[in-house]
Formats: sequence, structure tokens, C-alpha cells
Amino acid sequence: MIEISSTQENLNGLFRFWNNLYDGKRFPAFEAVYQFVLEEKGETYYFYLSISKGKAKCGEGKHQLPSMTIYSPVAVWLDVASGKLNGIWGWLTRKYRIKGSLYHLKMLNKAFGRKFTDEEIPGAEDKIQDFEIPGKRVWSKPDKVLIINGSPRKRNGFTYFYLQSLIKGIEQAGTEVEVINLYDRGLEIRPCRGCFTCWRTRGECVIKDDAKELIEKVGAAYLTIYAFPLFVDSIPAKLKALLDRMFITISPAFVPYQGLTRHPLCDTKEQYTAFFSVSGFPEVEHFGPVAETFKGIARNSHKPLIATILRPGGQSFTAPAYRSYLNEILLSLEQAGQELAERGKISQKLLKSISSDYGVSKELWRTYANLHWALATKRD
Ligand SMILES: Cc1cc2nc3c(=O)[nH]c(=O)nc-3n(C[C@H](O)[C@H](O)[C@H](O)COP(=O)(O)O)c2cc1C
Repeated sequence: MIEISSTQENLNGLFRFWNNLYDGKRFPAFEAVYQFVLEEKGETYYFYLSISKGKAKCGEGKHQLPSMTIYSPVAVWLDVASGKLNGIWGWLTRKYRIKGSLYHLKMLNKAFGRKFTDEEIPGAEDKIQDFEIPGKRVWSKPDKVLIINGSPRKRNGFTYFYLQSLIKGIEQAGTEVEVINLYDRGLEIRPCRGCFTCWRTRGECVIKDDAKELIEKVGAAYLTIYAFPLFVDSIPAKLKALLDRMFITISPAFVPYQGLTRHPLCDTKEQYTAFFSVSGFPEVEHFGPVAETFKGIARNSHKPLIATILRPGGQSFTAPAYRSYLNEILLSLEQAGQELAERGKISQKLLKSISSDYGVSKELWRTYANLHWALATKRD
């Protein structure tokens, strides 16, 4: 169980960690001893950092010959350590006081500002690739597209029913389609255990099942389309398990990307993501959360999201009253598949036609749906 550490343990950890931030390469000749006298709730904590011969060492207690002493409330020094408070500004605004020269304080700021290079953090080099920038992207029609069908009803579900038109369109473009039915009995994908062994071993997962082979397949595909029914405003569990297991493909480094932080990939390639989802409810708004999820997945997996294809009211639109709209939807899906393979995008007109409610009465829709379930429900 993880517990909140005591102040003593917390400061111990902080100073031990700080040692590593000393930039011995830039300041090899710097020699100093910093004594810290930190207070919290009437308790005083003594730590020191001594710098000599290009190395920093931390210690608990009082040093005999400190070059300078910093007297600070613990909370203020933690603000400095977390970067919330600039060390010099904190002193100028009297949040803490020092005994010694300003030179030493400035040096503390500089000498412990070590930046790690790409060589020191393996995998940290993460150049934003042209294919991640829509204006610079050059789409090549793929020979093959991978579709992961995350519907537990596999080939018998509405996801697959609509998917067939999309597949037909892709194939019309001369692109082969491979469909993996994730819920096929023989395919075992257990949930990620969150143990981070894959990060420590650089790519070995402790779970031995079919995820590895599937992740390799996704890793080799130019375009992967995730198809699934909307489940509780989200993704069906086995598909989520597969996406979680893809953690194995990212590098344990943290880099900036568009004002956020993300991980570099172990192996960066030009690859794309699309998703197709079918819902029970008739309104397209229900896909909002899952659309955001996929934006995040695409950003963090470095595989741009090139199509979000949504069909609300999937089941109901196969009902007799909606037959003419269904034909339009299926035709649009077919054209969308062709466009996706040929151009790497789908026109707004087609996407709208796939998602449209075709102006049907919501009230009548609910009456039909209620009637359907009233007839289907067993009564005593
Ligand atoms: C467990 C479960 C959760 C569902 N959650 C939602 C939901 O949050 N929103 C929605 O519109 N439909 C929801 N549905 C309905 C399905 O998305 C819909 O029936 C879909 O057509 C099923 O596709 P399939 O036949 O491929 O399984 C849910 C269905 C199930 C079984």
C-alpha cells in the first residue's frame, strides 16, 4: 500500500534526488556546501548538499563548514524544488532567508539545473514527424488495412453489419482488408497489470497471451481501424485491454508535444488510426467522450486520427421504417471506405450522411424502441 511519507522521509528523498540534478559537466570546479535548516510545525530538519570535484553529495544533519545556510519553511522549499517558486525570487520576497553570499544562492539555482540529453535518456529523441502535421502529410494508398472489430457479437453484431460496407469500399480502392474479431474465442487478451515491467525491460510483457502478436500486427499496419459498439459511453473491455497492452510500444521518456507531455515510441513509423463506432442511442452526441478518447490515443501513440466514423442508432436504423435511410448510410459507408483508402481522409459530406438522424422523429424513435423492448422482455 502506498502511504504519504513523513516530512523526514520526504526531505530525505528530495535531497537524494537532487544530487542527480547537479550539472558537474558545466560546473566541474565549483566547490560549496549548502546547509538547509527547514522548519515545519515546530520541528527543524537539517540537510546539506556538498559539491566537490564535479560531484554532489547529500547528507542529513549539520555540516561543520557550510558555504551558505538556507533557513526556510519546508513548504517554501518544496515550492522551490517543484519549480513553482523561483529560488531567487523567493529570497527577494523574503519567503526564506540565507546566511552567506548571493553568489552561492545564484550558483545553487544554476548548478542544480542539469538538463538531460537525448543520449542520457534513451528514446527521448522525439522529433515531430511530417506525417503528424496534416499540411505536410503525404498519403500513400495502402496495400492493406487492418480492422480490429471490438464487438463482442463479432460477425453477428451491428458493428460488423455496417463495417461490411466500409470494407467493400476499401476493397474497391484495391486495398486488402484484414479483420481481426477481437472477441474470437481463441484470442486471449488479458488486462494490463500496470506493473511497468515492459518499461524496465524495454519491451517484455509479463503476460503471455495473444496481445503480443496483435500489437505487432498493429505495429506493421499503415492504417488500423478500430471498430466497436459504444459501451457505457466508451470502448468494450477487450478492446480497452488491447489498447492498454500497447503501453509496451512506448518509451519510458517524457517529451513535450503541442503544449502537453507524451512519450516517444520505441519505434516511430508512419502509421494512422481511424475508428468506427455504432451506438444504441440515436444521437451522435453520445460519441463525444469516445471521440475525445481516440484523439488522445492517436496523439499519444503518434498515429494520427484520420477518420472518426460514427453511426448512432445502429440497430434501429435497420428497422423497417428506416429502410430507405439505411440504404443511404450503407452507400455512404462504402464511398467513405474508398475515400479513406485512396485519400487518407473522408469528406465531411459522407461523414454527415453516415451519422445523420435523417430527420426522423425522436419521439417516435423512442416509442418504437420502447415497443421493441416491451415485446422482447419476458413478463411473468
Ligand atoms: C454493455 C452495453 C453498454 C452499452 N452502452 C451504450 C451507451 O453508452 N450508449 C449507447 O448509445 N449505446 C450503448 N449500448 C448499445 C450498443 O452500442 C448498440 O446496441 C450497438 O449497436 C451494439 O453493437 P453490436 O451489435 O456490434 O454489439 C450498449 C450496449 C451494451 C450491451
